[in-house]
Amino acid sequence: MNEILRRECSERRKALMNMLGERAMVIVPAAEQCLRNRDTEYRYRQDSDFYYLTGFNEPEAVLCLLPGRTGGEFVLFCRKRDRAQEIWNGYRLGQEGAVSELGADQAFDILELDERMPELMSGCERIYYALGKRTSFDRRVVSWLNQVRAKARSGIRAPQELLMLDHWLHDLRLFKSSEEIRLMRKAAAISARAHERVMRMCRPGMFEYELEAELLHEFVRSGCSAPAYTTIVGGGPRGCILHYVENRAPLRDGELVLIDAGGEYESYAADITRTFPVGKAFSSEQRSLYEIVLAAQQQAIAQVQPDQHWNDPHDRAVRVLARGLLDEGILNGSLDEVLEKELYRPFYMHRTGHWLGMDVHDVGDYKVDQSWRMLEPGMVLTVEPGLYIAPDADVEERWRGIGIRIEDDVLVTRQGHEVLTEAAPKSVADIERLRQDACS
Ligand code: GLY
Ligand code: MN
Ligand code: MN
Repeated sequence: MNEILRRECSERRKALMNMLGERAMVIVPAAEQCLRNRDTEYRYRQDSDFYYLTGFNEPEAVLCLLPGRTGGEFVLFCRKRDRAQEIWNGYRLGQEGAVSELGADQAFDILELDERMPELMSGCERIYYALGKRTSFDRRVVSWLNQVRAKARSGIRAPQELLMLDHWLHDLRLFKSSEEIRLMRKAAAISARAHERVMRMCRPGMFEYELEAELLHEFVRSGCSAPAYTTIVGGGPRGCILHYVENRAPLRDGELVLIDAGGEYESYAADITRTFPVGKAFSSEQRSLYEIVLAAQQQAIAQVQPDQHWNDPHDRAVRVLARGLLDEGILNGSLDEVLEKELYRPFYMHRTGHWLGMDVHDVGDYKVDQSWRMLEPGMVLTVEPGLYIAPDADVEERWRGIGIRIEDDVLVTRQGHEVLTEAAPKSVADIERLRQDACS
C-alpha cells in the first residue's frame, strides 16, 4: 500500500473516531464477492466506505474501530494466508500484513468473527453500523448484540444504542482531500480523453458498442480498473432513454449520439456526458437544442461556488432550459407558468447533478435541517442538464427523437470552482471541427 493512502486512511479513521467519542464501536464489512453466472465471479470491487477507512482491497474482511480501547482501536478481521488458495486465486495480506501494511492494531482470522465480536462489543455503549444493506450480516450483528445482552447477570452492560454510521462517515467522504482531488483529476483527464477519442473515431454505420469499446480501451490503457458505471452510448432516439445501456444499435448519419461514460481510477469516478453528430455537423434543430443545453450547463456551472446552495445550479439550469423551449415554440405560455407548473418536465425529468467521489452517485447529505446544503470547498459534483424530446412527443415532428445531455465534474474551490473534465470538447465549433476531420 502506498504511503500516502496509508496516512490518509489513518487520518480518516482518527477523524471518525474523534466525532464518535469513547465507548463507541464502528463496524464496516468489506463488499462480498458476487457470482456472475454459475461459478464465474464479477471482478471484485471493494465497498467504498470500507476502502475509504482501510485502503484494503480483499473480500471477507470486517473493520472494527473502538476509540480509546486499550488493546487497540483499529481491529481488522481478514482471511488467513493460505498457500493453495494463493496459488489459485491471488495473494492474501493475512493478519501480519494487516498490521504491518495497513497499520491495524490487532488483526484476526475472519473465521473467528462470530467468536470475538460479542467480546469486542461488551465494553461499548453505542454501535455504529449501516443496518439494512446486507441482511445476512445484519442478522449476525443482532446475534452478537444478543449474546452480550445475555451476559447481563455477570455484570456486562450491553451497548444501548445502535446508530446508522452513514451520516458521520459520509460527511467525511463528501469533502475531498488534496490527494483525493489529485486522483479525481486523473480520472477526469482519462475520461475526457476517452470522449475525445470517440468523437474522432465515430463514423456513420458503426454500432454503438464499437464506441463503447473505444471508451473502454482508453480507460483501461490509462490505468482505470473499469468504467465507474455502465457506459451509455445512445444513437438518435435512444439518447432520450436516460439509462440506455444496451448499446447494440447502428449509428446513422443525421442523428446525434449521446455518450455517458467515465472511468474509475484508484477507486475514484469520473462521470462525463457528451452529445455529438454521428455525421459531420448538427442539423439546425439539433444545434438549437444543443445550444440551449450548453447555455443551461454553463450558467449552472457558474453557480457552483462557496455560499451558493446545492440547488442553485439546478434552478438556474431549469430556468435556461425552460426559456429555450419557449423561444423555440416547443412550450407555450409564460416563463413563470412553465416553471411553476413544471411544464418542462416531459423534456427534462431529472435533476442537474449529484455528489461525485468513490461512488458515481456519491454519498453525503443534500439537505441540512430541511434546507439545501451550502456548497463548500472540497465538494465535487456533476452538472448535467439535458433535453429529451421523445419520438412520440406532442411537438412538431422536426424536434422528435432528439436527446441531448452535457455533463461535467466540478470541484468547489475557495475562489469558485474548477471543471475537472474541461478537456472533453463541448462547444459546437470544437465538436464540428473534430467531426469534419473524422468524416472527410
Ligand atoms: N452516469 C450516471 C449519471 O450521470 O448520473
Ligand atoms: Mn453520467
Ligand atoms: Mn452524473
